[in-house]
Amino acid sequence: MKILVATTNPGKLEELSMLLGDIAGRIEWVSLRDFPGLPEIVEDGATFADNARKKALGYAQATGLWTLADDSGLCIDALHGQPGVLSARFAADECPAADRKTLDKANYQKVLRLLKDIPDSQRTARFFCHLALADDKQILLEATGAVEGVIINQPRGQNGFGYDPIFYIPSLGKTAAQLDNSSKNQVSHRGHAIRQMKPLLEQLLAQRQAGR
Ligand code: IMP
Repeated sequence: MKILVATTNPGKLEELSMLLGDIAGRIEWVSLRDFPGLPEIVEDGATFADNARKKALGYAQATGLWTLADDSGLCIDALHGQPGVLSARFAADECPAADRKTLDKANYQKVLRLLKDIPDSQRTARFFCHLALADDKQILLEATGAVEGVIINQPRGQNGFGYDPIFYIPSLGKTAAQLDNSSKNQVSHRGHAIRQMKPLLEQLLAQRQAGR
């Protein structure tokens, strides 16, 4: 069967389909790139769960396919959970026409400015990911993942995207931007959520196949 991954980002499709696998040859993964012209679903929910559910259900209704959607972001304790669901566009008002890379840099620079007087011991943060799978009527499965870290005061590392250069993972002694893709997948919020979803999806497909 075909499952739609609600993203136009080829990196995300590859990451999700690689970690979930083809589940015994039963799944063909497609992305929003295969459906040009679909109206975009606005991520205006108050929580990661709201956004993931809204995207999964909305795109499932628009295409008739089971749809897997994720929403993720960075929550910083000293900023009362910000940037949270606003992670992607935290500094958008400072550079409205910026491309993704420029905006990513402006976003983490804004965080560094806001944390400038916060001592190291209070710079704890986590990346959080909520995954939702839906058909055109209901949410079928959900999974979540998180990774704990500390916001350092200078960017470090060249890999990854978003807030990776300022997100230091104490257990690895590196920022997320100093990890290669496969090491990041092992510890990341998305990696954890996907690994949690995999057995649930296998079970659901087995039940459907058995007609239950
Ligand atoms: P999305 O929901 O995965 O598109 O993520 C929303 C925003 O959260 C991204 O634009 C990034 O700013 C931030 N973010 C999510 N996951 C990561 C990550 O693994 N590293 C760095 N930033 C991330």
